[in-house]
Amino acid sequence: MKVHEPLKDFLVHLFPRVVIRKNLRIQYTFCLGGLALTSFLMLLFSGFLLVFYYQPTSEGAYASILFLEEHVSGGKFIRSLHRMSSHALLILIFLHTLRVILTGAYRPPRQMNWLIGFALLCLALFAAYTGYLLPMDQLALWATQTGMELVAIVPGGGYVRDFLLPDGIGGTLSILRFYALHIVVLPVLMIILCALHFYRIRKDKGLLPYL
Ligand code: HEM
Repeated sequence: MKVHEPLKDFLVHLFPRVVIRKNLRIQYTFCLGGLALTSFLMLLFSGFLLVFYYQPTSEGAYASILFLEEHVSGGKFIRSLHRMSSHALLILIFLHTLRVILTGAYRPPRQMNWLIGFALLCLALFAAYTGYLLPMDQLALWATQTGMELVAIVPGGGYVRDFLLPDGIGGTLSILRFYALHIVVLPVLMIILCALHFYRIRKDKGLLPYL
């Protein structure tokens, strides 16, 4: 087997062998899933750049955000891009879910992809929440406080709060836990689930109308 054979094989299998012309009509999906993916990729890209400046410590967090905004060329733009992409992702995921519901695409044989999609929705919401604390400004402080009080009233929620905030809102260990979840755990899980989501679309014989 030549070295380029696996790559050729992968590329050949990347595209479906048969595509029904009707399935390509934009009115079925409005490409909302594709747009959600685009926002997710923009989030990963802008987040990757922010990592070079952000400091996950009590004293450093807000100071590093101010430094980024005031002294780094394009810093304000990268930060806004990250925030806007995260808003766009949540809006697009909700619209995509609405489209899936309205077209009945959650029904068999696509029930598995519905569940994978639902997990993606939960992860995206959690990723947005963990990102909210990181700048350690007033908005971050009160939003995290409110969120944690809500979590604490559900059964077992107290343990979740204690795990996420071991030294209280603004404590260095708490910031570090939110940061680890925000930049490693949640994005990696989302990338894996996106790959599964796209695999299932192909496996379930493409989009509506059903084959
Ligand atoms: C990061 C989040 C997500 C991304 C990037 C994504 C991406 C996509 C893409 C690109 C498609 C192809 C059709 C289209 O563009 O609409 C699709 C289809 C689908 N998605 Fe998602 N999705 C996400 C979240 C969700 C959620 C939250 C649900 C539901 C709970 C869901 C359920 C489905 C189902 C059932 C299909 C198959 C639709 C059909 O056959 O017509 N997805 N997704």
